[in-house]
Amino acid sequence: MIDPRAAAKRDAAVRAVDAVQPGMVVGLGTGSTAAFAIEEIGRRVAARALHDIVGIPTSNASHRLALECGVPLTTLERHPKVDVTIDGADEVDPAGRVLKGGGGALLREKIVATRSARWILVIDPAKLVAYLGARYPLPVEVVTFGWEGHLDALRSLGAEPVLRLGGAEHPFVTDEGHYLIDARFPNGIVDPDAVHHALRERPGVVETGLFLGMSPEIVVGRQADRTRQSRTSPDSER
Ligand code: A5P
Repeated sequence: MIDPRAAAKRDAAVRAVDAVQPGMVVGLGTGSTAAFAIEEIGRRVAARALHDIVGIPTSNASHRLALECGVPLTTLERHPKVDVTIDGADEVDPAGRVLKGGGGALLREKIVATRSARWILVIDPAKLVAYLGARYPLPVEVVTFGWEGHLDALRSLGAEPVLRLGGAEHPFVTDEGHYLIDARFPNGIVDPDAVHHALRERPGVVETGLFLGMSPEIVVGRQADRTRQSRTSPDSER
């Protein structure tokens, strides 16, 4: 039996797929919730309910899953304009600001999101937070050369940073060949814009997991027995 949180993730994902129409270019997110959406798109393609769609995966993992599910794929080079992207998130605050990258795919996710006419986030209720940094560390993607030089800068911003490991004491390496520093903010991220811009100014910082000013559409999943879809602005969700 599917656990309640997974049921909520699947509920959000399946309902969000209703936004995908024949002929569309679809951004395929990364993570356990986005995986439910990829599987559902594959089901609808197989059932011929969806045709002439092409997907753009936001990670190697989503690329593999989409192929397994029979979702036709393309690239941003071929299709630079994306109609709709369905992705997960780690945290969403009341202003619609988003923290992502728990799965390590934030860079491609942000590139695809910024090329998308609609950016739909599928989440379970636990992802709604009063402030960013409440539960998750902020992932910061950095080039491997000189990575350790960012630790003190993060500490000066109020964070406790650690290099993400990929197992057996080896650093986790992103799909683009970078490291991730996970920066936990014990008091939350008080000013996400200031933190994001301070980090992006540093040579070697490629991207942060703060997705700001991007007007996401939020779909919050419910458990199967009390399913109720919400596709609303983040403010009205609370
Ligand atoms: C991937 O890097 C992340 O941005 C995911 O979208 C995020 O971590 C959500 O993951 P889950 O859907 O598995 O909770």
